[in-house]
Amino acid sequence: MAQAASPRPARRVPFGAAMQAEHLGDARYRALFRAHCDLVLPMNELKFGLVHPEPERFDFAPADAVLDLARAEGQDARGHAVIWWNEVPPWLAAVTEPGAAERALRQHVETVVGRYAGRLASWDVVNEVVAHEAPPDAPLRDTVWLRALGPRHIPLAFAAVATADPQAKLVLNDYDLEFEGDRYDRRRATVLEIVRQLQEAGLRIDAVGIQGHLYAEKRIDIPALAAFGAALRRLGIALMVTELDVIDWRIPGGAAAQDAAAARIVGDFLEGVFAAGRPAAVIAWGLTDRYSWVDDAMPHADGTPSRPLPFDADYRPKPWFDLIERRLRDG
Ligand code: G3I
Repeated sequence: MAQAASPRPARRVPFGAAMQAEHLGDARYRALFRAHCDLVLPMNELKFGLVHPEPERFDFAPADAVLDLARAEGQDARGHAVIWWNEVPPWLAAVTEPGAAERALRQHVETVVGRYAGRLASWDVVNEVVAHEAPPDAPLRDTVWLRALGPRHIPLAFAAVATADPQAKLVLNDYDLEFEGDRYDRRRATVLEIVRQLQEAGLRIDAVGIQGHLYAEKRIDIPALAAFGAALRRLGIALMVTELDVIDWRIPGGAAAQDAAAARIVGDFLEGVFAAGRPAAVIAWGLTDRYSWVDDAMPHADGTPSRPLPFDADYRPKPWFDLIERRLRDG
């Protein structure tokens, strides 16, 4: 049978977005993903506490809803996230003994990563493991995993996911890797150090995910981002943009001013990311302003809705989406 032509434009670098099962009843939402995404991932549905809420109970239905739709649409998919400081279910938060923590990690990976083995192009194995300020004496974030297992939870997770799904690309994912300033230099250096340590231990890691939660008033350090990408490439590691959006709540002047500021910062960001070669993908943290985490987590002081995503609340593309589209098409 002849294959239906993809409704999506031909791109040198795939574009993707995080999808939420809770919005799948919205036909325009589904149509937006169909029209624009080469790749889709469940935004929250594979997080530890959601998919594995009790020691012996797993809830795969919400993740399956997203992943089955992606498969039906001929889209690639990815997994987010095995190790994270957030969405830790109460039973796991109570684990302090190293043996029990290691057993929990292995059981989780075997069951969750194993279930989707061969279906997901990549997994965020470790997410946001760098401490916010990344102080040199304590560069890793204080989490249930660090407390129970120490830094070895990172190689343990990479080894376990590699075994459970040998085909999936293994990603170290983190935020605040693109801006100008000492804190960001420290965060970039910490990521590079983790990659080196994994490689020295003989473990596989394939990519670093730069989340790309941008702030319209912050400055992208284009040379530092270019150098970071080049250093990763020398280590044989790809770069992937995993959670792109633009938090614009300090930009006065309404939608047109916000769009202009967002296009400026996304342009700088893409310049830095592409400087060391094409990224493996560019993925936005949702598609439409109708549904975004920003209003919950960082609402505008005056109560106006935030506009962080490439399509507005009426599903119309913004100038920064056109910018991305051109860049991904031309490489
Ligand atoms: O599904 C329930 C809904 O039934 C209920 O009515 C509503 C009331 O608050 O809550 C809904 O759950 C929320 C869920 O998002 C789905 O919208 C949770 O409270 C909320 O905590 C959860 O937030 C997510 C957050 O991670 C924490 O898991 C955001 O959607 C998601 O965008 C955000 O994503 C993170 C990445 O995983 C890692 N990087 C940063 C990024 C932004 O914080």
